Amino acid sequence: MKKIYIAGCGGMLGEAFYKQFSADYILKCTDKDVNDDWLSFLDFRDFNAYREDVFNFNADYLFHLGAYTDLEFCEHNPDETYLTNTLGVENAVYLANQLNIPILYISTAGIFDGQKALYDDWDTPNPLGVYARSKYMGERFVVENATRYLVCRAGWMMGAGPQKDKKFIQKLMHQLKDGKKELFVVNDKDGTPTYTHDFARTVRALLEKEYWGLYNCVCGGQTSRFEVAQELLRITGLHDQVKITPVTSDYFKQTYFADRPASERLSTRKLDLRAVNHMRPWKTALQEYISDYYNGYLTAPPKPSPRGRA
Ligand SMILES: NC(=O)c1ccc[n+]([C@@H]2O[C@H](COP(=O)([O-])OP(=O)(O)OC[C@H]3O[C@@H](n4cnc5c(N)ncnc54)[C@H](OP(=O)(O)O)[C@@H]3O)[C@@H](O)[C@H]2O)c1
Repeated sequence: MKKIYIAGCGGMLGEAFYKQFSADYILKCTDKDVNDDWLSFLDFRDFNAYREDVFNFNADYLFHLGAYTDLEFCEHNPDETYLTNTLGVENAVYLANQLNIPILYISTAGIFDGQKALYDDWDTPNPLGVYARSKYMGERFVVENATRYLVCRAGWMMGAGPQKDKKFIQKLMHQLKDGKKELFVVNDKDGTPTYTHDFARTVRALLEKEYWGLYNCVCGGQTSRFEVAQELLRITGLHDQVKITPVTSDYFKQTYFADRPASERLSTRKLDLRAVNHMRPWKTALQEYISDYYNGYLTAPPKPSPRGRA
């Protein structure tokens, strides 16, 4: 069996990669947050430690997943962000080239400026904020320097359930669990949801066919934050009990002050042309996500905190 070293595997996407690859590959999954028993510690900013771990494992592929993904944290901490999201990736490229193995890097739909309604794989990015710029510089470093690479751009990620999902779906589910009867949702942001399992399946197909290169990798269908929220209420059966009030992004500007493009919708032109698109329509993926990961979540009593308080 081939060996894959996966760095930054403790988050939303790492969970799906572990499930997708663990039966047929030998994995070494690391993170600085060791939150599962199949993870071990590695801070990929520490080049010597990263090098030693990947070399000792004798990896056939290097998957570099980890990043700081909180846009507001990144806006406030640019040096930390570039150290992790850009120089960490440079570290990974050095290692992959030294070992002469392919590297996988995860980029984001957020590297575009939103001036266009829809971006294909060949459109030119123009990042707006620190997170987006750090990710785009990581992407460029891989494309310009790695011998064999996959750069896969994800959209609005959904996956891994209440324990690990830090993004939009979990934020809404959390409010619903809290008993909120009104959700305030922006009506000026367009994008494409990306289910982690579909993403991992598509990466695997690209890797096994050795179709190296850069790919947009998002679920099918073009949508908006507002429509995703409406669909979530329909799926959970709460559409008659919970109201969604449309607001502009200004409504949240204290909390979400980082610039976000008005549109980060991607098309999967290259995946389609190569006939390796395993990304299902976003509504199908969302339905599966909620039924697989949130069964009983809305009705279960809140878990006690580690100190025993609610
Ligand atoms: N989430 C999205 O909507 C989205 C969209 C497009 C692209 N992406 C990209 O997809 C990739 C995976 O993101 P995700 O959604 O799985 O994010 P995530 O849930 O935040 O997971 C990222 C993991 O990387 C870890 N990490 C950060 N710095 C590290 C370091 N120096 N060494 C080792 N591990 C480190 C994080 O640990 P801590 O939690 O301790 O920081 C976290 O466990 C990232 O490259 C991200 O930029 C994400």
